[in-house]
Amino acid sequence: MQRAYVSAFLPEDIVGPLRSVAAVGMWDGGGPAPREVMLQQVVDCVGLLSMLVDTIDTELLDTAPRLRVISQMSVGLDNVDLEACEVRGIRVGHTPDVLTETVADTAFALMAAVVRRIPEGAAIVRENRWGIWDPWANLGDDLHGSTLGILGMGRIGQAIARRAAGFAMNVVYSSPSDKRLPDATHLAIDELLGVADLVVLAAPLTPGTRHLIGAAQLGSMKDSSYLINVARGGLVDTAALVDALQGGVIRGAALDVTDPEPLPPGHPLLAMENCLIVPHIGSASINTRRAMAQLAVDNLITGLAGGTMPARFRSRSLVPDQ
Ligand code: DGY
Repeated sequence: MQRAYVSAFLPEDIVGPLRSVAAVGMWDGGGPAPREVMLQQVVDCVGLLSMLVDTIDTELLDTAPRLRVISQMSVGLDNVDLEACEVRGIRVGHTPDVLTETVADTAFALMAAVVRRIPEGAAIVRENRWGIWDPWANLGDDLHGSTLGILGMGRIGQAIARRAAGFAMNVVYSSPSDKRLPDATHLAIDELLGVADLVVLAAPLTPGTRHLIGAAQLGSMKDSSYLINVARGGLVDTAALVDALQGGVIRGAALDVTDPEPLPPGHPLLAMENCLIVPHIGSASINTRRAMAQLAVDNLITGLAGGTMPARFRSRSLVPDQ
């Protein structure tokens, strides 16, 4: 029977149907499979269900000459050498749509938390530093009435914009696509950075978007503004962000993703009160992670059968729409 490898544990009720089309090997050592395990396991596989932390490069693809389908349990595919897959005729699936609303929720959770200084307030209470109520203590900024700048207007960017209407925010956005949204103003990225109170990154990571936000871009932002990243850490030049937060170039940042990920112990961002960091939990609701796993399994089963994958990545531009 043909073999497929799943590089992280998936619940049996979701992975079960895959067993009827392939002998399934699955990493169950917690987290994703280590690189050396991946390289051993894919040798004779026709299908691979991968995670966003797996590096799917030419070394791995050369190790797996029978591979026909890669189905990744994420929308972002920056860890996959898509050109090399295309050259080898390997079909690639991912998990758009099912995570859109959850990631947009996370963007709002991060925005509210950082502008209203929720982690600092919670620490004050937990550490018994909560003194008598002071009208001028613990002040933050408002979301309502602020200008939200969204970089990347794919599915997730649009879902963030929809929520912004409920918060009476003024939405501006920058996106390479020609698509124009009603209730939001398209701006060149430099203009956006100069007017936004919050800049949210919702763009895919590609060679063209790496370090989209560096020292110059941070310098163009208002000194009262915040940077929010729910996309990929590599969109931001981390050293430049450290300098900007330390130097008061921007007021704060909230990051679901970092570069590197995780940040090493002692990294300056970890000690900054004006930098909220969570461990890449953008899509981490129970329902959404199950839906992502289900779609990844469906993609792999259909792809191995030669059918139309429910969410095949189309390599026209080699850039997944988030
Ligand atoms: C994705 O799917 O790319 C997200 O980063 C997962 O949370």
